[in-house]
Amino acid sequence: MSTKEKVYSLLRHSNKPISGEFLAKELNLSRTAIWKAINSLKNEGHLIQGKPNEGYFILEESKEFNAEATLSHLNPNNRSHVVVYETIESTNTIAKQMAELNEPEWSLILSKNQTKGRGRFERAFYSPSGGLYMSFIIRPSIQLNDVNLITMNAAIAVYDAVKKYCHIDLGIKWVNDLFLDDKKVVGILTEAAIDFESKSFKYVVVGIGINLKLSKIPNDLKSIITDLNISDDFDKNLFVAEIINNFAINTTKSKLDIVSHYRSNSIVINREVFISGSYSGYAKVLEITDDGELIVETKQGEKIMLNSGEISLRRINHE
Ligand code: BTN
Repeated sequence: MSTKEKVYSLLRHSNKPISGEFLAKELNLSRTAIWKAINSLKNEGHLIQGKPNEGYFILEESKEFNAEATLSHLNPNNRSHVVVYETIESTNTIAKQMAELNEPEWSLILSKNQTKGRGRFERAFYSPSGGLYMSFIIRPSIQLNDVNLITMNAAIAVYDAVKKYCHIDLGIKWVNDLFLDDKKVVGILTEAAIDFESKSFKYVVVGIGINLKLSKIPNDLKSIITDLNISDDFDKNLFVAEIINNFAINTTKSKLDIVSHYRSNSIVINREVFISGSYSGYAKVLEITDDGELIVETKQGEKIMLNSGEISLRRINHE
């Protein structure tokens, strides 16, 4: 923990002002170090009162990403380390490195932007500031071919959190995106390492990118992505924790419960989509099976089952 984090931790757990002298003694630091830490907490957006004969007191916490605040909202059984970066290449890349080093389940990496955000099929994921970029580590004991279930769980965890805190009903686009008005607002990238001997997951990293209120959307992306346009007092830490808490609770539910919740908020059923993968072309989506596969009917009347691959909504009207 940095000095700033230690000071913050003491202040946020106190219901009365704490003097600089007490903080310095408690943390074995100089008064100057405490003063610097207080200033940097103020710069992060925390409203801290400092009175000469009383000490420091947090009047209002910043709603910006903050490890301690996120931790305080996480349920104990899905709480581990939280690391917050200003900027990073990709939270998934870091989370995978941490998982390789045996960091515990539920370790969570957050970043305010990403310089090399990644999507499925090695595509870039646009990650400017104003987004939420998060990845967490799990070590599930489910069957390898149930990997889609993890992405589906993440999708409904985000869906429910957005509904609760933004009052917006997103639509889920099989298998890993959430849309608002036919534009993408959330992308999910699930990456796994497999132990071939035991045919089980060594670890899974669930990466989620959410366009909260993007600093800017380039012209060429304006018809493709949008954001949730969150208000200035939106509590990002509460929101992140809600997603992880939802996800962890969902892992205790049956596969059928997860798939039916996912299915009932899907925007692809009965729609015509463009498929790219082993089959490429337009098709109508008939259903999402209890195993999370997509059944589509091609223009030639052939029914195909997809369990991965890409479908696109944008090109529907381009025939
Ligand atoms: C997709 O659109 O295909 C999935 C996008 C997933 C983006 C998230 S942002 C956090 C995490 N880090 C990454 O580099 N990717 C995921």
